Amino acid sequence: MKRQPRAMVVPVLILASLLAAPACTVEGTAAQAVTTSASSSATVSPPSPPVTATPTPTDPPTIFAVIGDYGRDNGDQAAVARLVGSWDPAYVVSVGDGYYATAGGTRSGRYDESTGAYYCRWLADITTSGQRCPSGQAERNAFFPAMGNHDYTDARPSPETYLDYFDLPGDGFTNTSGNERYYDFVEGPVHFFVLNSNPQEPDGIDETSSQAEWLQQQLAASESAWNIVVDHHPPYSSDADHGSNPDLQWPFADWGADVVISGHAHTYERVMRDGITYFVNGLGGSPRYKFTTPVSGSVVRYNDTWGAQRVTVTPSTLTFDFLTIEGALVDSHTVTHR
Ligand SMILES: [Fe+2]
Ligand SMILES: [Zn+2]
Repeated sequence: MKRQPRAMVVPVLILASLLAAPACTVEGTAAQAVTTSASSSATVSPPSPPVTATPTPTDPPTIFAVIGDYGRDNGDQAAVARLVGSWDPAYVVSVGDGYYATAGGTRSGRYDESTGAYYCRWLADITTSGQRCPSGQAERNAFFPAMGNHDYTDARPSPETYLDYFDLPGDGFTNTSGNERYYDFVEGPVHFFVLNSNPQEPDGIDETSSQAEWLQQQLAASESAWNIVVDHHPPYSSDADHGSNPDLQWPFADWGADVVISGHAHTYERVMRDGITYFVNGLGGSPRYKFTTPVSGSVVRYNDTWGAQRVTVTPSTLTFDFLTIEGALVDSHTVTHR
């Protein structure tokens, strides 16, 4: 009987290390928990009830992907899509430019060429005449795009082509904005707020706009563990072609955002500002941009090849890994609660 509690610890060790693998902070906590349970089982002589060795029920980590500026229908986009597919993410978030004219097609078939052909597995509720992904393969929509400038300039007529193709955030989700150009949705412990940062947005794009007012109100009302803001034009970017967008430098941190993810600059960058993390992730398959003088708070800049973000979600950590199409890890950044 004495051996029984010790034997119970073994699966706990395995389970705890499996659950804790991606994030250092979780790993430390789990190791501590295992040590405690092992030492107590060794010192207590009467047989302990198995409850002492039962781990606290924890949701397994969820993986999602973030891609940017991908809609070319070219080999580089295909390589990024293969990388993303290899992670088997629960859902995919796009920071925009999901269609460039080079992808061809007409009307809603444009997004069939640029998006359906590569991300059919995560799509649902789409409407298209295209044949590469005539209807999405997901049970529930798992592809969440933001509108990029090329979704306006190239996906003509605009924004109808984009709005006809996608139905956002999709059946079964609650969206508080009342429109699809900018919207919110909840996936597990994460509340996403997808903005429309294009100047064509009727509700405006600066800090005093009704779009910004919506964001501020909904961030204040959010009860989720994590609040992630997604848009196309980066508030802060060190890229030489487009750079920062002062109109979009909203007080995201004060309003309650944990992370802001953008694209438009065809680079990868991590900027630490106001106590939160800003990412630029525009390496989804388009020609890459150069960097100029780094903006304040810029800590990682990368443009050697294409790639995407693999994000691991737990209730206490968000780990953002940027990986290249060759599988190299460029940046790994874990966000914990402020
Ligand atoms: Fe772009
Ligand atoms: Zn763009």
